[in-house]
Amino acid sequence: MISLGLQCLGLLLFASVALATHLNYDISTYRTTMTSLLSNYSSKVRPIVNQGQSLQLQLSLWIAGINEVSTTDSMMTTTGYLYVRWKDELLNWDSTATGMFWMQFNQKDIWVPDIVLKNGFTDFKMMGGDFYYLYVYNDGWVDWYPYKVFETSCELDVTYYPFDSQKCDIIVKSWSYSRWEVNFTFNDPQIGFYEFVPNHVWHLESYDAETDYTNSQTDLKFTLHLKRKTKYFIANLILPIILVGVLNTFVFMIPADAGEKMGFSVTIFLTFAVFLTIVSGELPKTSDSISILSIYLIIELIISISSIMLSAVQLRIHHRKPTIEIGECFRFLVRAGRRLRCEGRKNDKSMKCFPNSCLNKPRIHEIEVIDCESRMKMNRPVEDEQEEEMDWGDVSSAIDFFAFIFLLCVQVFVTSVMFIYAAAR
Ligand SMILES: *[C@@H]1O[C@H](CO)[C@@H](O)[C@H](O)[C@H]1NC(C)=O
Ligand SMILES: *[C@@H]1O[C@H](CO)[C@@H](O)[C@H](O)[C@H]1NC(C)=O
Repeated sequence: MISLGLQCLGLLLFASVALATHLNYDISTYRTTMTSLLSNYSSKVRPIVNQGQSLQLQLSLWIAGINEVSTTDSMMTTTGYLYVRWKDELLNWDSTATGMFWMQFNQKDIWVPDIVLKNGFTDFKMMGGDFYYLYVYNDGWVDWYPYKVFETSCELDVTYYPFDSQKCDIIVKSWSYSRWEVNFTFNDPQIGFYEFVPNHVWHLESYDAETDYTNSQTDLKFTLHLKRKTKYFIANLILPIILVGVLNTFVFMIPADAGEKMGFSVTIFLTFAVFLTIVSGELPKTSDSISILSIYLIIELIISISSIMLSAVQLRIHHRKPTIEIGECFRFLVRAGRRLRCEGRKNDKSMKCFPNSCLNKPRIHEIEVIDCESRMKMNRPVEDEQEEEMDWGDVSSAIDFFAFIFLLCVQVFVTSVMFIYAAAR
């Protein structure tokens, strides 16, 4: 118990002594130490006694936020600072004699490395500023925290937009010193996060850092792996496009007599044109990678144009004079359509007269069945009776039917192929 108390007392004493030594200096000591340190100092010379040696710099990137990744400009904006640490062999003093363990030096008074952003987007400037103060410890270690809004160019691959992941680099290097004069190494951690604010559009999946020795300088490359958050795009872009695509096929549900067909299909076409404008406004103007979404929209436009043209032809056919004879092709179309729809005319039993439907019929309809079978045995073509009952309206309705089925199939096929391709990469 007593020993514990003593230990506590010893600790307290030590702490107060340490506190006293490093706080117990006055302004004149500080000023004279700084003056004597700077009297023989040149901020233009590497602070290393043996100038043949390379000055080793430890560097790490601390990110406060990813502000924006602009797909149109191929640019990433991040806020953060570099933590740079090196040993200045000319700045050291006796800490016990002066009582000072560290001092703060203005950036323009001492040597700082000329670090630049290699893949900078707008400007090419040195880090830091004249108003910066650097921490210098009594053994010569210098801590420098140049804060910056990093605007870096970033090649974006928009093939899978808006389900894309991007890889953006922040590359820093020394502009004038070679590796044999100033060498960069990573500090631990290589990339840190300082009060990091997540981005609303981009999710930071992972990050890594590597050194690049291809040039005579050492390049430090910090890479951020970003993934676009897709909820907004699914709700505001993908779903409306798919729904309008489905609507496209319903042009052929509207009867030709209603007189709405053309207006409807042109509206759908314009809707797709608007969507295409929106999507291409979001994408970079590059021919290197074409977005699947743009291709999908172009296919939808083609489908839409085809349905407009088909509707026009169909309306023309619909309003043909009854005196014009219906060609064999159209007759075949109408017959096939009627069969597939299991459709018959009123009081026309013959339409129900297929081998299958005959067999499936319950016994109550004996008379009909016999009627059917006898007719089939007689091998009389069923269609003969309808020759007179077919008009141009029937032809147009058959076109409606086949076009609807066909476009629906195309629509489902194209949509599923596109989205399976986008999802299965
Ligand atoms: C300045 O540097 C020179 C050469 O290293 C040295 O001879 C001289 O004593 C230094 N002067 C002061 C004031 O430290
Ligand atoms: C630069 O730093 C790297 C990593 O610490 C080291 O492997 C390399 O030898 C250094 N180069 C020079 C010229 O000092």
